[in-house]
Amino acid sequence: MKKLWLYSLLSICLLQGRAQTHLAPTPPMAWMTWNYFGENINEQLIREIADAMHSSGMLQAGYQYLVIDDGWQGGRDNRNNIIPDSKKFPSGMKALADYVHSKGLKLGIYSDAAPLTCAGYTASLHFEEQDAKTFASWGIDYLKYDYCNAPKDSFTAKQRYKTMADALRKSGRDMVFAVCEWGERQPWHWAAAAGGQLWRTTFDIRDSWSSMMGIYEINVQLHAYAGSGRWNDPDMLIVGLGGNKGPSGDLGGTGCTITEYQTNMSLWSMMAAPLIATNDVRQMTQEVKRILMHAGIIAINQDSLGLQAKRIASKDSIDVLLKPLVNGDVAIAILNKSATTQPYALPFASIGLEGRYTVQDVWTGTTTKRSQQWKGSIESHATVVLRLKKE
Ligand code: GLA
Repeated sequence: MKKLWLYSLLSICLLQGRAQTHLAPTPPMAWMTWNYFGENINEQLIREIADAMHSSGMLQAGYQYLVIDDGWQGGRDNRNNIIPDSKKFPSGMKALADYVHSKGLKLGIYSDAAPLTCAGYTASLHFEEQDAKTFASWGIDYLKYDYCNAPKDSFTAKQRYKTMADALRKSGRDMVFAVCEWGERQPWHWAAAAGGQLWRTTFDIRDSWSSMMGIYEINVQLHAYAGSGRWNDPDMLIVGLGGNKGPSGDLGGTGCTITEYQTNMSLWSMMAAPLIATNDVRQMTQEVKRILMHAGIIAINQDSLGLQAKRIASKDSIDVLLKPLVNGDVAIAILNKSATTQPYALPFASIGLEGRYTVQDVWTGTTTKRSQQWKGSIESHATVVLRLKKE
């Protein structure tokens, strides 16, 4: 009897441990509605985005999840089941999920650990099990769970996130659980144990260089907390937003240069951040496609070792990041934060990399053999990303 009890306890622990990490062994790659479309979403748009993710190559590049953020909800029915807004989603979420799945994508949705979401829609507090069951019955694969209208303290936050994570697990369907309390209660210390695979580390990103740098500065310091199945989330990529519209255009989000967007992709990839695009994938320029779908940079982000880059130098507006990769390869990023082009030389031995390397400049594709250093000039706000293989 005692043995049986111990065995059950062990299986529960193993199951819980497994459930916490196997859902996102590498950082989730997604497209999300919020930063471009805000609340202006509907089933036609989602179908068009699914088509575009498929036809543009985004899905093949690895962007697997299509996530519907805030603004889809239409309240609860007379049995308290959460329902979509019938004007925006007249065919219902199950039909939409079927469509999204038919394109080879997975569907994500959004709720909040309070009675109402950030934009004031119906949320999941006290309905966690019922909502998790509903999401599972629709075929949802990912839940972003926000924290507006909830108490400030950490104790309640941990409890509320755990309640929803447990409910998702109980629903019987695998759903990635994305914790979104903006880093206010240091979720890197507790969100994985509560059942999350990723957690926002900062407030919302805006489409500007200063916002990107502010968020990078916070997230880069949290490298020790990331690993397979547990990721620091510095919010969506702003690549391709072009200062056009949507919530990320608020508060000075007037857009970035292509060089700056490339830095966004470089830093987020180095930091093993979830890559969550939020542009209009139906009309991407060649430049935006090149950045978002760059196989070499995505390979660094998705590297199975699952390590977040560590900042190993920060001096005179130049930051150097180092990310160990599988098979002994190493990725290095050199970021120029200044407003002018900077010359820079990096002898590899100075960062503990002795010997000679085959060095690939990831963005240009140029390869140099038998190298012991990188030397060149870096444009203002640009990031050079190198992949080193020991010879
Ligand atoms: C918060 C989140 C955003 C978005 C909105 C939706 O601000 O941080 O990412 O989900 O809510 O209302």
